[in-house]
Amino acid sequence: MKELLNLTGKTILLTGASRGIGLATAQRLLEAGAHLVCLSRTSGGLGALQLQYPQAIVHYGVDLSNAAQLELCLNNLPQRLDGIIFNAGYFKPALLCETALLDFTTHLQVNVTAAFQVIRHCWSRLRDSRGAVVLVSSLAGVPNVEKFPTAGAYTASKMALTGLCEVLAAEGREFGIRANVVAPGSVDTDMLRSAYPDMKADFKPDDIARQILFWVSDASAPVSGSIVMVKT
Ligand SMILES: NC(=O)c1ccc[n+]([C@@H]2O[C@H](COP(=O)([O-])OP(=O)(O)OC[C@H]3O[C@@H](n4cnc5c(N)ncnc54)[C@H](OP(=O)(O)O)[C@@H]3O)[C@@H](O)[C@H]2O)c1
Repeated sequence: MKELLNLTGKTILLTGASRGIGLATAQRLLEAGAHLVCLSRTSGGLGALQLQYPQAIVHYGVDLSNAAQLELCLNNLPQRLDGIIFNAGYFKPALLCETALLDFTTHLQVNVTAAFQVIRHCWSRLRDSRGAVVLVSSLAGVPNVEKFPTAGAYTASKMALTGLCEVLAAEGREFGIRANVVAPGSVDTDMLRSAYPDMKADFKPDDIARQILFWVSDASAPVSGSIVMVKT
């Protein structure tokens, strides 16, 4: 099993690596031997990891809410990619009837359209490497799980991400490309603390990072198209 979790020689693209679940995931992937290409607006906590793993991290500052900026940024990616972890996320709570159109479309752009852009751009790389895609959704993105008021735009975007995964798995199968969703419950990060200050989180970021490591590694092969709910 340990061998299957080893990512030595692999290059993984990770979005939202600057803090929270993404930063914990970066740490786990680096420990497993991966090289990382990280996308987020700021480098945040990656600075400390760069000191520890100076050759293993490249960070590109990009705002995923800006589709054109993301397209330009994608031209910098290395030729080889063995995996994509789309983890970056945006959540601004509001009742649906009070949600501004721009806020709704920003949720869709950051949480799902950007994932589509990244995957479409990297498709030939994923084919070459028979790569793995992990999409970080949420219990909000899983049907028949009780939903929160004020999370309408977020829920719509995360449901769309789940649908994207299922089609990706179908289209990737003949090329050996796998796609799976990790859908966590509450995690102790900036996102949860600012949205629901009184909520006690069920998970720490590293609990989710270990799940993501499993799904991007050969340890989870050949499973594809799974929606993995992470619940206590
Ligand atoms: N926390 C929870 O309870 C929970 C539960 C279920 C699912 N999730 C999901 O888990 C993922 C990680 O969330 P988290 O809790 O770790 O949140 P977080 O601590 O707020 O981190 C969010 C990450 O996304 C990046 N990001 C946000 N907006 C961006 C933008 N416009 N452009 C580029 N990068 C952007 C941030 O980087 P910069 O600010 O540097 O750009 C940061 O690295 C998200 O997809 C979230 O929906 C979280």
